[in-house]
Amino acid sequence: MKGIFSVAIDGPAGAGKSTVAKGVAKRLGIVYVDTGAMYRAVGLKTIRLGIPSDDEERVVPILDDTDISLVFSDGLQHILLDGEDVTGLIRTQEVSNAASKVSAIPAVRHKMVKLQQKLAENTSLTMDGRDICMYVLPNAQYKFFVTASPEARTLRRYKELEEKGKLEGMNFNELLLEMAERDKRDSGRDCMPLKKAPDAILIDTTYMDVETSIQTVLNHIGG
Ligand code: DC
Repeated sequence: MKGIFSVAIDGPAGAGKSTVAKGVAKRLGIVYVDTGAMYRAVGLKTIRLGIPSDDEERVVPILDDTDISLVFSDGLQHILLDGEDVTGLIRTQEVSNAASKVSAIPAVRHKMVKLQQKLAENTSLTMDGRDICMYVLPNAQYKFFVTASPEARTLRRYKELEEKGKLEGMNFNELLLEMAERDKRDSGRDCMPLKKAPDAILIDTTYMDVETSIQTVLNHIGG
């Protein structure tokens, strides 16, 4: 593969897209950008400020004073919120819900999309999110929509939170409900909703292990 190229990967929460995007980037020796982390950082800021994450009138004014940036060390992405590395603080359920809410606000999306497009200008990368194929990188050379059944996605999230000790007392059914709510919000919003791009290749990982999912993408890329 020659020149700068982008691999755009969209899909709902827990579909395995970040694992796939990370694995593909590693195999191709390119950067992996997790755009969800950016919305999570903005969500974290609203929590810290005590602002309801879906209150557009109160969220928009803080945007000018909010600096979101990414740094990469050893191929791993770190997310900085106003200069502070918050990578370890953004994976809680509370932040997940706040991220989903702030991400429905158009001004938030426009700020993040600009940053994401800038990153892809100068570097080959895999980028995952909800709107990458249609809005962020519509000219990406490779586009994928990675999904899985809601139950499989919830089970993965459950195990992930359990391993990290971050279940916060939630059981599987509660998590399934939260996942459904988040899906509905992410696909139902007016601004850049989660939707499969017509030219994106669909990969259903319900019955696939990680290695097979990564290899499926690599096979399409020819890498
Ligand atoms: O991928 P994730 O779970 O870390 O994303 C957190 C939230 O951010 C998700 O509920 C939807 C939103 N998001 C988005 O709207 N657009 C993106 N490109 C990435 C994430």
